[in-house]
Amino acid sequence: MTDVVLISGSPRAKGNTEFALNVCKDAIEKRGLSAKIISLRGNPIQGCIACGECGKNGKCCLKDGLNDMLDDIKEADGLILGAPVYFGTARGDMMNLIQRVSMVARANGNWLSGKVGGPVVVARRGGLTSTLQEMLMSFFISDMIVCGSSYWNIAFGHAPGDVAKDAEGMATLEKFGDNVAKLIIQLRK
Ligand SMILES: Cc1cc2nc3c(=O)[nH]c(=O)nc-3n(C[C@H](O)[C@H](O)[C@H](O)COP(=O)(O)O)c2cc1C
Repeated sequence: MTDVVLISGSPRAKGNTEFALNVCKDAIEKRGLSAKIISLRGNPIQGCIACGECGKNGKCCLKDGLNDMLDDIKEADGLILGAPVYFGTARGDMMNLIQRVSMVARANGNWLSGKVGGPVVVARRGGLTSTLQEMLMSFFISDMIVCGSSYWNIAFGHAPGDVAKDAEGMATLEKFGDNVAKLIIQLRK
């Protein structure tokens, strides 16, 4: 079991989403919790087809990599979802993942309930806060506990690794990761 699962919705190797999530991961591990990044790179995630099968067998009927991630997500106490902004919204595969995981969880006793976490968003310049809000919708309706930080969980960058230069973004994400870990530890007491 991993304490916190972080999912990167970027298709790029060593991209900004992965960098940002690694900052959160390091902060979580500093508190003594385990954390694991799952990447959607090379693993396209289809959209929900509203078949209702997940309500019958606990898994999604679509045969891409999503079912392989479900056990990790289900067992974790924390979930952090990271995405790049594409045309002012979260990259489609991340929204597909959010919608399908939320549906499988909801159709099976809402096993996302009570998990601690939140979204993380990167972009070159525009659409960060609206994308954060777009992703937040699923956390709230799934009865999850969203942590804050010293700013919104956003970081600016275009070329892979650029976000490292956004000092405020990095500090925000470090604090966010630390808050996620602190809250999980508190809730276990
Ligand atoms: C198809 C596409 C659409 C994009 N749309 C936006 C956008 O609306 N706003 C923005 O600031 N950056 C946009 N970008 C830039 C990415 O958000 C930015 O390069 C980000 O750092 C990529 O994250 P990654 O390195 O994790 O893949 C877009 C990039 C692509 C490929």
